[in-house]
Amino acid sequence: MKPPRDPKKPFRPRPPGQGPRPPWKGGPRPDRPGWKPGPKPEGQGPSQGARPEWKPRPPYKGGPRPDRPEWKPRPPFKGGPRPDRAEWKPRPKPEGQGPSQPGAPRPERPPYQGGARPDRPAWKPRPPFKPGDRPAGKPSSRDTSWQQSSAYYDKSVGEGGNFYHQTVVLPGLTRMLRLGDTERVKLLDLACGQGVLARSLPATVDYWGVDLSESLVAAARKHDPRPTRRYEVADACKPLPFEESGFSHVVCMLAIQNVENPAALVANAAARLAPGGRFVLVLNHPCFRIPKQTSWEVDERRWVRFRRVDRYLSRMRAAIVMNPGLGAASAETWSFHAPLSDIFTWFKDAGLLVEGLEEWVSNKRSEGPAAVMENRARAEFPLFLALAALKKP
Ligand SMILES: C[S@@+](CC[C@H](N)C(=O)[O-])C[C@H]1O[C@@H](n2cnc3c(N)ncnc32)[C@H](O)[C@@H]1O
Repeated sequence: MKPPRDPKKPFRPRPPGQGPRPPWKGGPRPDRPGWKPGPKPEGQGPSQGARPEWKPRPPYKGGPRPDRPEWKPRPPFKGGPRPDRAEWKPRPKPEGQGPSQPGAPRPERPPYQGGARPDRPAWKPRPPFKPGDRPAGKPSSRDTSWQQSSAYYDKSVGEGGNFYHQTVVLPGLTRMLRLGDTERVKLLDLACGQGVLARSLPATVDYWGVDLSESLVAAARKHDPRPTRRYEVADACKPLPFEESGFSHVVCMLAIQNVENPAALVANAAARLAPGGRFVLVLNHPCFRIPKQTSWEVDERRWVRFRRVDRYLSRMRAAIVMNPGLGAASAETWSFHAPLSDIFTWFKDAGLLVEGLEEWVSNKRSEGPAAVMENRARAEFPLFLALAALKKP
């Protein structure tokens, strides 16, 4: 380590004409030929005289691992019987689809290079979705309420919320709400579902919950009948059917991606807040969790699990099967995607100033041969984004 400069000695700038000192690249120091590196603390670095055998590990370029000769990368799955699950068979594809159809030879398809699809000449890429793009006068085929899935959702979320509600979302949301800063907390929960948030708040909080699903509102009332709780069946994107306003807090928890017109929900939140009141929005992270456009993949060469993002900037919607176990009988819900820039525009247009942004990761842990890679990926890619904003006074 460089010895500290003697403060009594005056600092001498380099003589003129010598220019900046070239960066030191190791070896003897040109300015102090007698200097030798000092010994490093026990166990550190190559300059430790007692570890002459130490050499920096050459970068791993695939092939057998020198430190674990028995380790072999799993060969990429190329179809056919699975060596690890001999009994596994690919599900037969519907008539005419895919090469895994027993006996069907795979047709040679030329690589798709954009433009018209040679196999489906009538196909055109769908233009990006814009809210309100439905032809005027036609009823919505997209009912965004979770009424059809309410029994399943109520059961899977339970009284205290699901795993992520309990371990990540509610603790983070409670922190961002800063309820302790307000003398009398009056809170509006937009798209409250069956009222998980209500039950996590102290009884003294004057709570109003709004949701489009009658059954979920009924479940919320049943789960938490305290007199300070009020629930209304209403569309959070339309004028609300009650006068109450001057809320100190408005929340939308894990629901903005389930409404078709999120800008209107944010405007409603701002309209009902008292000046200086706080809006907290928690959503699936819009950069890394885009319905049907993001997925986990593994780079087998670098042994890295990474997040694949196929599309991001376009507004998109996707139908999500709620209970895949039921197959075609399962209800579906709508999910909508908007990029961060749109979210910030909704806030700006509603007169909300963002004062805090947090990104929350999953706290699950993997075990087994891929644990290191999986846990590292989990710690890198947040599941949730939380924004806190204040209404301009
Ligand atoms: C994923 S759930 C979240 C519910 C709750 N906030 C929670 O964290 O458990 C989404 C909710 O949004 C509600 N929803 C969808 N569109 C809505 C709308 N336009 N107005 C009010 N609620 C709506 C659904 O009925 C459903 O209860």
